[in-house]
Amino acid sequence: MEDRKIAIVTGASRGIGKRIASTLAEEGMILALVARNEEKLVELKNELHDSEIHSVYSCDVSNFNEVEKVVKSVFEKNGKIDYLVNNAGITRDSLLLRMREEDWDNVISINLKGVFNFTKHVIPYMARQRSGKIVNISSIVGLMGNAGQSNYAASKSGIIGFTKSIAKEYGSKGITVNAIAPGFIETDMTAKLPDRVKEEYIKSIPLKRFGKPEDIAKVVKFLLSDDADYITGETINVSGGLYI
Ligand SMILES: NC(=O)c1ccc[n+]([C@@H]2O[C@H](COP(=O)([O-])OP(=O)(O)OC[C@H]3O[C@@H](n4cnc5c(N)ncnc54)[C@H](OP(=O)(O)O)[C@@H]3O)[C@@H](O)[C@H]2O)c1
Repeated sequence: MEDRKIAIVTGASRGIGKRIASTLAEEGMILALVARNEEKLVELKNELHDSEIHSVYSCDVSNFNEVEKVVKSVFEKNGKIDYLVNNAGITRDSLLLRMREEDWDNVISINLKGVFNFTKHVIPYMARQRSGKIVNISSIVGLMGNAGQSNYAASKSGIIGFTKSIAKEYGSKGITVNAIAPGFIETDMTAKLPDRVKEEYIKSIPLKRFGKPEDIAKVVKFLLSDDADYITGETINVSGGLYI
């Protein structure tokens, strides 16, 4: 088998995950692209460098059994799994008094349990290989909190605690686990915010601009590279200084 790295990227159909996928494909990696919208994934695959070598998996990251099947089939196809990028996520914002139980459950299931599901199923393969790198996309909201996002903040703080714990459990197997905490990045997720809110945000960002998906993708590329071999359990803020 040729020695190209195999990477799973969740939430690859748009936004930050799509940019992570194209950046890693440029690096020569073979990708397993995961999201619910298969059509969008196929569109992306066709745009990628070396498009025919990548695979598409329509999967809900919150579904334990579906994730198990995806991971198994990525391994069967490629004989190894080098990298996992847990990027899929949603928001269902509201103040606590108005938050419905399903808003809480959906955000925790997709954002936090989704990270557990993929990590849990990938780790046995990485442990056997005695190598692997995992990057989890958290948020600065998980570090600083945000009114109207208690469900999202809880999920993203949870990812940071999970990242540190798995880094401690599997460091001895040659596996690194790190998180990235993006600030305000221009994607569908933030497009729906009112202009008034966006203007307020800009004022509090020292670099005076919103981030772009490539700002996150570059840091993922670094954390998966040999240059980051001695980094584990870390959370890197990529927020233009919004959270200092
Ligand atoms: N944008 C920001 O400012 C910002 C800031 C901090 C952190 N983040 C985090 O960065 C990550 C990407 O965000 P984004 O801004 O790129 O969001 P986005 O444009 O809304 O994209 C979200 C991605 O997650 C996938 N996804 C959602 N639910 C899923 C599920 N149940 N199963 C599988 N895939 C699912 C979506 O694909 P399908 O709909 O096709 O399933 C899509 O590919 C998220 O974890 C987000 O919390 C974003």
